[in-house]
Amino acid sequence: MPKYIFEISGEHPSIPVSEIMHLLPHGNTGCTFIFGNFLMITVDMNRGEIVGISKRLAFTHYVDEYLFSSEPSKSSLLKTVSEREIPNIEGSFKVECENRSRMKGISQELEREVGAIYAEYAKVNLKNPDTEIRLLLSDDRWFVCKKLVEIDRGEYENRKADRRPFFLPISMHPRLARAMVNLSGIKEGEKLLDPFCGTGGMLIEAGLVGAKILGSDVQRWIAEGCKKNLHHYGLHDFQIEVLDVGDIEVFGKVDAVVTDFPYGKASTTKKEPVESLYNRAFFAISNVLKQRGRLVCAIPSTESIKIGSEYLDLIEVHPFRVHKSLIRYICVFMKC
Ligand SMILES: C[S@@+](CC[C@H](N)C(=O)[O-])C[C@H]1O[C@@H](n2cnc3c(N)ncnc32)[C@H](O)[C@@H]1O
Repeated sequence: MPKYIFEISGEHPSIPVSEIMHLLPHGNTGCTFIFGNFLMITVDMNRGEIVGISKRLAFTHYVDEYLFSSEPSKSSLLKTVSEREIPNIEGSFKVECENRSRMKGISQELEREVGAIYAEYAKVNLKNPDTEIRLLLSDDRWFVCKKLVEIDRGEYENRKADRRPFFLPISMHPRLARAMVNLSGIKEGEKLLDPFCGTGGMLIEAGLVGAKILGSDVQRWIAEGCKKNLHHYGLHDFQIEVLDVGDIEVFGKVDAVVTDFPYGKASTTKKEPVESLYNRAFFAISNVLKQRGRLVCAIPSTESIKIGSEYLDLIEVHPFRVHKSLIRYICVFMKC
């Protein structure tokens, strides 16, 4: 089976790995190893399939095809590079080193020396190469890879709440919203519902990965603003309703629910005690989810996780620090 390396971001200790694992088809995955910020996965998927999934990821910088690895030293690396079969380099190439090891100041000489070995077989082009060979250095192992995808993380900045036509300071960063959509494992064409849709942060990310998007909010003016935002990002095929969360059965059964619960500070609960609202919400969500469908939600406390666990099976919890005094728990629940 082919091996791929995901160069994940260090922004969070568990979400970057989880969002990848939830997008891989069950049963196709062999061994998985983590070397610092490099996640190596053996999976029965071709390059095209891996590229398709990779483009959705929020917390990964690059995805590479694994070629071989060496002990973590310059002499071992150069020996392995000269002994191994020359990688199939289409057109010109360059060598780029990503050093996440404690051994600093060696990137440039490794790039130069490995580049010199491969330059006997292909043309170097540092500005616009056809092939990028990546040297990934962790403390335990060094890898030689071929770049498959570089993820444009800048595009998430263009979708931040204050860049949308309808702005309220209740929407989380689009990168986290995208990761939450990925944790739900939603696939193109499947139905995803956000019953506390607010300005549409989750639905924008879900719509952009090809899900059928359904949303509701109890406040009409917010639901109307959400529609404006969806149109702004080229998403025109959606269903947005003005509804209390208790009435979401009008949507029928859905494959996933992804949502950021109101918690009574920046986002109102309409004066309803949080405990009562959350009981009603988890009950209603468990009724609209298909069997084995997932709920991915951001909730404010361990008490709210307990409430959720009375209605659905808890699979994962990722504490996420929004700022110094605010932690949200990103939870993955499943209807079993
Ligand atoms: C945290 S905000 C959601 C933010 C959203 N993810 C976004 O990108 O803007 C929670 C939303 O829940 C809505 N809400 C509060 N109580 C509700 C209820 N009982 N039923 C449905 N929506 C409700 C609020 O109007 C608010 O827009």
